[in-house]
Amino acid sequence: MQTIKKRIADKIVLGVKRINPDAEINAQEVAGMLEYPPDANMGDLAFPCFKLSKTLRRAPVQIAQAIAEDFADEAVARAEVVGGYFNLSLDGAYLTRHTLANVAQKGEKYGSPENGDGKVVVFDYSSPNLAKPFHIGHLGTTVIGHSLRKLHEFAGYRCVGINYVGDWGTQFGKLIVAYKKWGDRETVENGGVDALVDLYVRINNAISGNEELGIPADPALADEARAEFCKMEQGDEENLELWRWLVKLSLKANDEIYAQLGITFDSYKGESNYSNEMPVQVQKLRDAGLLKLDDGASIVDLSEYNMPPCLILKRDGSSLYPTRDIAAAYDRKQLYNFDKSVYVTSAGQSLHFAQWFKVVELMGYDWADKLVHVPYGTVSINGAKLATRTGNVILLRDLFALATEKVASIMEEKNPDLQNKEKIAEEIGVGAIVFYYLSNTRMKDINFVMEDALSFEGNTGPYVQYTYARACSILSRAEGVEKGGKPVISAPEEVALAKVLATFEEKVREALDTYEPSVIARYILSVAAAFNRFYHNCTILGAEDAAVKATRVALTEATKIVLGNAFDLICLKKTEKI
Ligand code: ARG
Repeated sequence: MQTIKKRIADKIVLGVKRINPDAEINAQEVAGMLEYPPDANMGDLAFPCFKLSKTLRRAPVQIAQAIAEDFADEAVARAEVVGGYFNLSLDGAYLTRHTLANVAQKGEKYGSPENGDGKVVVFDYSSPNLAKPFHIGHLGTTVIGHSLRKLHEFAGYRCVGINYVGDWGTQFGKLIVAYKKWGDRETVENGGVDALVDLYVRINNAISGNEELGIPADPALADEARAEFCKMEQGDEENLELWRWLVKLSLKANDEIYAQLGITFDSYKGESNYSNEMPVQVQKLRDAGLLKLDDGASIVDLSEYNMPPCLILKRDGSSLYPTRDIAAAYDRKQLYNFDKSVYVTSAGQSLHFAQWFKVVELMGYDWADKLVHVPYGTVSINGAKLATRTGNVILLRDLFALATEKVASIMEEKNPDLQNKEKIAEEIGVGAIVFYYLSNTRMKDINFVMEDALSFEGNTGPYVQYTYARACSILSRAEGVEKGGKPVISAPEEVALAKVLATFEEKVREALDTYEPSVIARYILSVAAAFNRFYHNCTILGAEDAAVKATRVALTEATKIVLGNAFDLICLKKTEKI
């Protein structure tokens, strides 16, 4: 659509110049001003002339008329002036031909705005606190973060994905206490994530008490945990040895989730790595006169910017979350010299980011304006009975397993002979969760309804993945169909599909500009809807006319490519058979 818009824009500019030869307007701007009319009767594209009314000192209708005069283009079937709008209906055959050629030529790159120019973008996402369960609260940062990274990669940026794991902090003190009290090496080693979660839940119940389970609160345990962590900070080898082992086990457990999602990272440099670099940044803050003492703690006063103070050092001199983030950001600038550094976390951390971004700016770092925080809303679950052996925490692993199990039973009914069933059920089950989540705008608070997410009908992951598999299945039976001829249009559904396929790049740009993977998820739904309408109304492989058949196969092929490219952007697997 970009190229079609561009050629139309060139001609609109000619029209404008007829009114005023000196008018300062270029085709790029005009192309950006072209709108999609809300109603198909008004055409496919519309140019709103009132936007030029002021500079040209003419009524919008007059401008529209001047543009319409002598307007002719191969891509346009009909052009008319309606009020202050210049409305255009595209030529279906031209659009289809142009789009099919474009998709076929660009293939895996089709849809890329190719505007990244190799600039470096760092993404900090997922970044769970280790030793704690990996739960549904982590889904957002993990899949939104990875999608944003994929979108940037697709556009030609060089991306660095960092899993800034929370591998330091009192949670390790707790786990060490729990392990020393109730654990043994063998059980934990063999029990993996379950054993760790059990210990974690048990110690938290013991510290805060749990009425339901009849466990009294024992606050002394919290002191013990702090003491164990303190020993870690002071370099106690026994605890550090335990810590390294626990970190390793947690990372391994999390890797299983990442593998299910098809996610990999370039770096796992977590919070524990910054103990040496922090003092350097703290000293800089001090030298710049930014640090203030407040009841023994060191803070940066941000009242001038309407924010509470940013805490840098606790009373006992130990560092805090913002301190570590500042040190890590500095380190990343040195390591990667990024053009942009993106952090994806829940909106609950927005203030934290606003605060330390401000501190970095006050420190005079010229890269302060390259830091971006991308927040998202909360997730809850109802309607589904999930094992909540961890209190209120629902493990992502359990959610994926449940979805996989349900999909497997649906598939058993629909297609009992399918090969490789388990793997496919997992791809669809996990995809269902991911798609359900990403089809909402990121700031929306989401309430999971499992039945809705897993349905093969409606706007779900299984539905779009099934549509992809349907296209694959048709193509696998289309051998010997002569392709490459001039497309022949014989049904409106063909053009309607081509039109949707033509707007992919625009959607990718929109998703990039707004940091919204949901734009891609919803675009996938519109491709699936257009393709299924085409599939139901047009005979593809059975078409009698060879040229008609070739066109339809080519449309199916283009759909497969576009859906596949879009799936890659939002962590959906391209499952060919369901
Ligand atoms: N570990 C933190 C948490 O689980 C998220 C870290 C986000 N990244 C960052 N650079 N602060 O809440």
